[in-house]
Amino acid sequence: MTNLPMSIAAVAASAWLGSIVLAQPPPDYKGDCTDAGCHDAYGRKAVVHDPVSTDSCDACHEEKDPAGHKFEFAEEGAGLCEACHDEHSGKVRHSPVADGECTACHDPHASDAKNLLVAATEVQLCGECHEDVTEDLAYLHGPVAAGACTVCHDPHASEHATLLLHSDKDVCVRCHTEIQTRITEKVVKHDPATEECLACHSPHGADNRMNLREKSPDLCLDCHDGIADVMDEAAVTHDALTAGRACVSCHTPHASDVEHLLSSGPMDLCLTCHNKALTAGKRKLVDIKKLLAENPVRHGPIQQKSCTGCHNVHGGEHFRLLIEEYPSGFYSPYEEKRYALCFACHEPDMVQDAETNKLTDFRNGKQNLHYVHVHRSVKGRTCRSCHNTHASRRPKHITETVPFGEWNLPVNFEKTDTGGSCRPGCHRLYRYDRQSAVANLPD
Ligand code: HEC
Ligand code: HEC
Ligand code: HEC
Ligand code: HEC
Ligand code: HEC
Ligand code: HEC
Ligand code: HEC
Ligand code: HEC
Ligand code: HEC
Ligand code: HEC
Ligand code: HEC
Ligand code: HEC
Ligand code: HEC
Repeated sequence: MTNLPMSIAAVAASAWLGSIVLAQPPPDYKGDCTDAGCHDAYGRKAVVHDPVSTDSCDACHEEKDPAGHKFEFAEEGAGLCEACHDEHSGKVRHSPVADGECTACHDPHASDAKNLLVAATEVQLCGECHEDVTEDLAYLHGPVAAGACTVCHDPHASEHATLLLHSDKDVCVRCHTEIQTRITEKVVKHDPATEECLACHSPHGADNRMNLREKSPDLCLDCHDGIADVMDEAAVTHDALTAGRACVSCHTPHASDVEHLLSSGPMDLCLTCHNKALTAGKRKLVDIKKLLAENPVRHGPIQQKSCTGCHNVHGGEHFRLLIEEYPSGFYSPYEEKRYALCFACHEPDMVQDAETNKLTDFRNGKQNLHYVHVHRSVKGRTCRSCHNTHASRRPKHITETVPFGEWNLPVNFEKTDTGGSCRPGCHRLYRYDRQSAVANLPD
């Protein structure tokens, strides 16, 4: 305990020593204390204690020696008050209450403050013995800023730790009814928010907005060490996790109707940021929202509104946060594992068998054109040289153009019922037909 002022300490100690002695009784004293012009000051205060206003001084002061004007207290300590007031019981009793020091906070006679308090405000009262709980905090909690301590603490005794009026969550949701409603009504609830608001918030204020004990992501990573490990180990990182509101730019801290506490449906969520040309280092990223708006032929997972079918949002070891390996360039020597991303959902045979009647529609007669382009030890064309993995205007996700250095190489794909053609930046117009193979002139 700090700041214990001498005045209160002295009063607290002297109050219970048993007697008060005046040097001599007043000359015209006849047992009426407030009328004799001596103790009439009490009545001029805003709040006068009931027994004082009714001149029942003897409820507390027993006159032992009228001639010497000598009084003794009717009871010791809290007993004096408990003759009329209920005892303050509870699992946790405030130290001065347990010590019977009622007058550390109350004037037994009269006061200008309500509840006969010895200080004008609660903050001053509590501040007599406690360090300022708001000291140096950048943000103060509403009721604390308003100087209301007893909206949360019982000044006397309580069934709950720290003299709180309610158990943890209830202390808060009594006022924050909208949060309680949200947690009750939403389907997915964050474990700590159903019990312990204080796991994340400080009750008096904090150095972070929203009275947060720490800022996200650190706040979240203290408990979610699995995610912390992913982030630490990730070769490819996602700025969304650390910039701005970090974790809470995608997750709601309390409750949500979307699984994993996401703040909106999984695809909309991504498009809240990927709705402009973001930059990663010096690289400008494709505006995915615009791409999807302009390209109606969407890849299967995207039709299902899943971006996480292919991307690890929290970070990972592969290029572009992909969940599996996928070559990064226009060319790549063929190895099955390099296309693990596509082959997580598609059959690798479609590029591995040189001849086929059924594994792929990209064939000229039996000649597998996927094999021709992709399955090469030198200059194997990666899937991106023909397909846009997200969406396209043409069938089969065939892209209009593909970046080739600084040039956007056109593909010029046309589909027919039994095959198709392209006139890309790579060679002259070639056709393919599944039913009767076309003889294309070599370049
Ligand atoms: C509810 C109990 C209670 C009642 C009723 C009460 N007193 Fe007191 N009085 C105290 C206590 C306790 C003290 C000890 C000082 C303190 O803690 O403020 C005290 C102290 C005093 C003192 C010492 C000086 C001072 O003010 O501290 C005087 C004088 C006094 N009382 C007069 C009266 C008179 C006159 C009345 C009736 C009009 C009266 N009291 C009614 C409890 C009471
Ligand atoms: C740490 C300061 C503090 C101490 C010590 C303290 N009180 Fe209080 N008391 C308050 C405050 C503040 C209020 C008004 C707010 C409230 O009721 O929560 C109050 C209100 C009261 C009230 C009026 C409201 C009610 O609860 O009925 C009574 C009576 C009371 N106290 C009696 C006592 C008695 C008796 C003691 C000693 C056993 C005591 N107090 C010790 C701070 C204190
Ligand atoms: C003789 C009975 C009696 C005694 C002894 C007594 N009180 Fe009271 N007190 C009352 C009555 C009656 C009221 C007014 C009705 C009520 O609020 O319960 C009152 C009211 C109060 C209040 C509320 C004042 C307000 O804001 O209206 C406080 C605080 C209080 N008492 C504290 C004390 C403390 C502290 C003691 C001991 C030093 C004490 N009382 C001793 C009878 C008593
Ligand atoms: C007369 C001195 C005094 C006053 C005035 C006082 N306290 Fe205390 N308070 C103590 C002491 C002594 C302790 C116990 C030591 C500690 O934990 O610091 C304590 C403990 C506490 C605790 C911790 C209880 C626990 O179990 O952890 C809270 C909360 C508290 N006080 C709140 C208040 C509030 C709110 C006020 C103002 C309404 C107040 N105090 C006024 C002396 C005081
Ligand atoms: C919104 C509710 C609320 C308000 C208002 C509030 N407190 Fe607290 N207070 C708490 C909670 C909850 C704790 C327990 C903190 C914990 O366990 O981490 C606490 C703890 C305390 C403690 C124990 C030591 C500490 O700092 O942890 C003291 C002393 C205290 N408060 C004093 C005050 C004072 C003085 C005021 C008024 C300026 C006040 N409180 C206002 C909720 C509140
Ligand atoms: C007595 C009512 C009351 C209690 C109890 C209470 N609060 Fe508050 N709280 C408020 C008020 C009023 C505000 C300020 C609202 C505003 O500025 O719009 C606030 C603000 C907040 C804010 C910041 C909101 C913002 O928009 O900046 C958070 C976070 C918060 N409270 C959490 C808590 C937690 C956690 C608890 C429990 C320890 C709690 N509150 C208990 C009344 C309360
Ligand atoms: C897991 C950590 C965590 C827990 C537990 C938690 N909160 Fe929050 N709370 C936050 C974060 C983070 C924010 C800020 C969100 C933002 O920036 O949009 C916040 C914001 C708030 C706000 C202000 C914004 C709003 O959503 O209205 C209030 C009020 C609030 N919390 C109250 C509570 C209450 C009451 C509880 C307990 C029922 C609680 N919080 C539990 C982390 C938490
Ligand atoms: C006090 C510890 C704690 C803190 C702090 C915390 N969480 Fe949690 N969180 C949990 C627990 C416990 C669960 C439920 C068990 C689980 O799924 O791991 C959970 C569940 C989750 C889930 C749902 C997991 C799922 O599979 O559905 C998400 C998402 C989440 N937390 C995000 C966050 C974010 C974002 C923050 C920071 C604002 C945060 N957590 C802060 C403890 C915490
Ligand atoms: C860019 C949006 C985004 C951000 C930012 C984000 N998450 Fe997630 N988080 C998701 C999505 C989407 C899921 C759903 C899981 C999935 O399908 O991969 C998820 C799932 C989770 C899960 C449950 C599943 C699991 O992997 O354990 C936890 C816990 C979680 N996130 C915590 C966090 C934490 C902690 C942060 C901040 C460091 C964070 N998230 C930042 C989007 C995000
Ligand atoms: C809060 C904003 C935000 C949200 C929400 C967001 N992102 Fe991002 N994302 C970024 C930023 C900024 C970058 C560029 C910086 C970087 O590479 O991290 C980026 C980059 C990426 C990259 C490219 C990484 C690379 O290395 O080139 C991918 C892939 C990605 N995000 C996928 C997603 C997916 C999937 C979602 C939804 C689950 C999502 N993002 C949600 C902000 C966001
Ligand atoms: C079927 C797998 C798959 C799905 C589903 C998917 N992506 Fe991608 N994404 C990729 C691949 C592959 C790349 C690398 C493209 C390249 O370099 O050719 C990529 C690249 C990206 C990039 C980086 C773009 C750039 O300019 O470098 C972003 C941002 C991105 N995706 C966001 C998303 C979003 C948002 C969604 C959901 C709407 C999504 N992705 C769904 C596979 C997928
Ligand atoms: C998460 C699973 C998944 C991954 C990973 C995936 N795809 Fe797909 N893909 C699908 C689904 C589902 C369809 C839709 C099948 C349908 O409509 O019959 C599809 C369809 C296609 C189609 C068009 C098929 C048609 O008949 O219209 C192409 C082309 C394609 N994917 C290419 C790729 C490429 C290239 C990759 C790797 C970069 C890849 N996919 C990764 C699930 C996936
Ligand atoms: C040289 C261009 C080219 C490359 C490189 C290419 N594809 Fe294709 N792909 C096509 C064409 C053209 C079709 C459409 C065939 C049809 O329906 O006529 C197609 C069709 C598909 C289909 C639909 C099913 C089928 O086979 O007919 C899938 C799935 C597919 N490709 C996946 C891939 C994957 C995975 C890669 C990379 C490993 C890849 N493609 C590389 C041109 C290409």
